Amino acid sequence: MVDDDTELEARLEEQETFDPSEEFVAQANVTDEGIYEEFEENWPECWDRAGKLLDWDTRYDEILDDSNPPFYEWFADGTLNAAYNCVDRHVENGDKNRVAIKWEGELGDTRTYTYQDLYREVNEFAAALRDLGVEEDDVVTLYMPMVPELPIAMLACARIGAPHSVVFAGFSAEALGTRMRSADSEYLVTCDGYYRRGDALDHLAKANEGLESLDHDVETVVVDRLGDAGHGHGLTENQHDYAELVAEQSGNRVDPVERGAEDMLFLMYTSGTTGQPKGVKHTTGGYLAYAAWTTHAVLDVKPRDTYWCAADIGWITGHSYIVYGPLALGTTTLMYEGTPDYPERDRLWELVEKYSVDIFYTAPTAIRAFMKWGSKFPERRDLSSLRLLGTVGEPINPRAWKWYYRHIGEEECPIVDTWWQTETGGMMITTLPGVGTMKPGSAGPPLPGIDATVVDTKGEPVEAGRAGYLTVDEPWPGMLRTLYNNDERFIDEYWREYSDVDSDDPDDWVYFPEDGAKIDEDGYITILGRVDDVLNVSGHRLGTMEIESAIVGVEGVAEAAVVGGEHDVKGEAVYAYVILEDGYDDDEEMRERIVAGVEDAIGPIARPEQVIFTPELPKTRSGKIMRRLLEEIANGEEELGDTTTLRNPDVVEEIQRKAQR
Ligand code: WT7
Repeated sequence: MVDDDTELEARLEEQETFDPSEEFVAQANVTDEGIYEEFEENWPECWDRAGKLLDWDTRYDEILDDSNPPFYEWFADGTLNAAYNCVDRHVENGDKNRVAIKWEGELGDTRTYTYQDLYREVNEFAAALRDLGVEEDDVVTLYMPMVPELPIAMLACARIGAPHSVVFAGFSAEALGTRMRSADSEYLVTCDGYYRRGDALDHLAKANEGLESLDHDVETVVVDRLGDAGHGHGLTENQHDYAELVAEQSGNRVDPVERGAEDMLFLMYTSGTTGQPKGVKHTTGGYLAYAAWTTHAVLDVKPRDTYWCAADIGWITGHSYIVYGPLALGTTTLMYEGTPDYPERDRLWELVEKYSVDIFYTAPTAIRAFMKWGSKFPERRDLSSLRLLGTVGEPINPRAWKWYYRHIGEEECPIVDTWWQTETGGMMITTLPGVGTMKPGSAGPPLPGIDATVVDTKGEPVEAGRAGYLTVDEPWPGMLRTLYNNDERFIDEYWREYSDVDSDDPDDWVYFPEDGAKIDEDGYITILGRVDDVLNVSGHRLGTMEIESAIVGVEGVAEAAVVGGEHDVKGEAVYAYVILEDGYDDDEEMRERIVAGVEDAIGPIARPEQVIFTPELPKTRSGKIMRRLLEEIANGEEELGDTTTLRNPDVVEEIQRKAQR
């Protein structure tokens, strides 16, 4: 047994390409290699394939309107309702008893919603929202953990044409306040609390604190997740109990509002290079069609499957691949409240076994943690139901890929390494599991219909194997339409770099995702990571500026610079270099105040791994902080790159010394 194992390890280590099994291909949703050519030759009409996955109230004639780049419109003369597509039509098609959502709480409590159950509750909550005053186009903020009421609230909003803005439950009160202010949101759905590693967290206290920072009144709905014992807070006049509202609407129906394809379905705030988060706008037609299409083509989801994306709905991954894509296709989507290592490190595999999960989609940071914990945890469980595995959020190194392939997929499941972003709405670069060869470490070719390339600083394609910048030359249905109330920033952030912004010829417009990449002879793209001041910590996107401004807000801090340092499990970790004002000591208390400042402003995910006090920051003669150097120091590199352009080269050694403490 041991010998077999070593032999297998050695063989896997050398193997550079992997193909899906015949058995997988025989059942896959997409198996024809010709699909790439078919999309290319038929572009943009090829996107009708995605549009056709939905039911439209008014069928669109025009696939793409590119008359005003970069404000592209898709299926623009069509109308539809997203909740109708995710719920009603499955009920009408005879699948009312199929399970839509299976939910499991951290303590092992479970809930099951059939499409009929979902239909009923979405209608009732939609009616309740209307009664609270929500009108079409009002932004409703959802600040909720992983409870079934979150997708229900999203669908209820979609039903009445009110865009939702989901704020990740791990974000702080301040982060909630900023997002509600930015979106002028007068409605909030939140929760009393939830469980994390056995503790009942007081979520409502955070929500209340966020509300206090607003100048406008907010109608709030509170889901009682913890039961009366956990409530503790009395509800104020503007706060309503979710269960009571739904009970009052018992059996009520709300007609799904006919939305234009280009009408906003939701806003999702994400981090950028400045301190202000960006409100990414996604639409009803293009986004939903794209989410459904990629769920079908890449995740190979079929209605009979039990499908599990182990992300949080508070991020785009959860929007597209826990809620909208899977429900549009009428499958069973599994939701889990807790963490992978509670009560034990086999929790996820226990759930795979229990629910006989067919498709599992997670992030490389989780896979690296599983690897560290060891294969004995998955080995305790029967994982033979799995057919396909996926990853998203950051680059996956070949070693982690192969571990996932062997110990979770038992060498039988293809892996899709899917590159995409909050802004792209859905997957962009990955192999199609029933078609392409997989190369661990490389996401794969752009999907059919996606025109992504790797270029140099001038926009010229780079040679195979050379590092460059990822760009996308043609629009796609799932793309963001703009940044909320900020068309100018939309152009600046994503287009200016490689486009002729004065041109109205769509060929002169190129989307820049701000990732570095390389491409090989077969057109496979390896993502190298962000090239802007955005960190990727455990697959979560954080702006260095946001963290810096949180630190500078702490009393006694004069200046701060934040960079990402390499981390085995998190991928990147936050390193904060801090200059104190005179009269403040660089002691443990100061460090704690800085960490608390970051947690208050953003949330625990942004917590610095290390706070390094320094008398000065390394700056160029023009006064720019040399971040590259700070990154090298964070990574413990002894030989630093060129420091000759520094104004204050002497400080480097001192910082290096402090970082080692
Ligand atoms: C950034 C987008 C897409 C949902 C989760 C993150 C990085 C994403 C991959 C991948 C290498 C990846 C990129 C991208 N990224 N997927 N498969 N391989 N890097 O969404 O928070 O908008 O972050 O995540 O750097 O730009 P996000």
